[in-house]
Amino acid sequence: MKHDKVTPYNSSAPKKEQVATMFDNISGRYDLLNSLLSFGTHKGWRKKCVNLLRDNKPSTILDVATGTADFAIECAKLSPKKIVGIDISEGMMQVGRQKLQKLGLDKLITLEQGNAETITYPDNSFDAIVVGFGVRNFQNLEKGLANLHRILKPGGKIVILEFSYPTNTVVKAGYSFYFSYITPLIGKIFSKDPRAYSYLMESVKAFPNNNNFVAILNGTGFKNSGFKSLSMGVAAIYYGTK
Ligand SMILES: C[S@@+](CC[C@H](N)C(=O)[O-])C[C@H]1O[C@@H](n2cnc3c(N)ncnc32)[C@H](O)[C@@H]1O
Repeated sequence: MKHDKVTPYNSSAPKKEQVATMFDNISGRYDLLNSLLSFGTHKGWRKKCVNLLRDNKPSTILDVATGTADFAIECAKLSPKKIVGIDISEGMMQVGRQKLQKLGLDKLITLEQGNAETITYPDNSFDAIVVGFGVRNFQNLEKGLANLHRILKPGGKIVILEFSYPTNTVVKAGYSFYFSYITPLIGKIFSKDPRAYSYLMESVKAFPNNNNFVAILNGTGFKNSGFKSLSMGVAAIYYGTK
């Protein structure tokens, strides 16, 4: 099935609405489950992404699909003047805003309701854009990436973190077992919406990865694009410039 047809609840509602409802449902447990399911590895992955932006010294950063703001918080280490996080799930951002307040980062980082595909910031607004585990959930991937390209300043960099699908047969078997059985089980026990954790595997499997995703980045206008595999191909960092 094509990736944009893989939706959380297989209902007739647009994917965007289903995704927002799903993340509203799981927002209270999202951070806990992220740490449980990835054994904390997701933090190191975001650090690697942020290190890719260090040389660019971005002063304004947009964190797309910010969720509970973990990527935006990691970006604060680059000492920018402003970070904006956007998301379609108000529930996820409510959790994020509480974290920002506790960390004293609520002046530097603001979270706003916004859809990557339709957000109307002026052209060339941000020095850097990051997206963590967000692009897989876009309703129209190409439209979303083209819009982000429009918003990025010339010379600016986009860094995207996303689950990937390992190529090594042994790793692939372990990965498939983990995502097909363990993830949904933990999701069922800890989350208010177990469907979210079976959608995860279905959406990862259907999503273009590695060079296929780089081709889409190139097709939507990005240059010098590439990817780095993480943790034996379990995830990947994609990057490109405008
Ligand atoms: C798996 S969470 C990732 C959150 C965070 N970036 C992280 O690294 O943990 C995915 C987020 O993407 C958001 N999202 C999905 N489609 C979106 C879109 N088109 N525009 C903005 N946010 C979107 C969801 O609401 C959800 O909060």
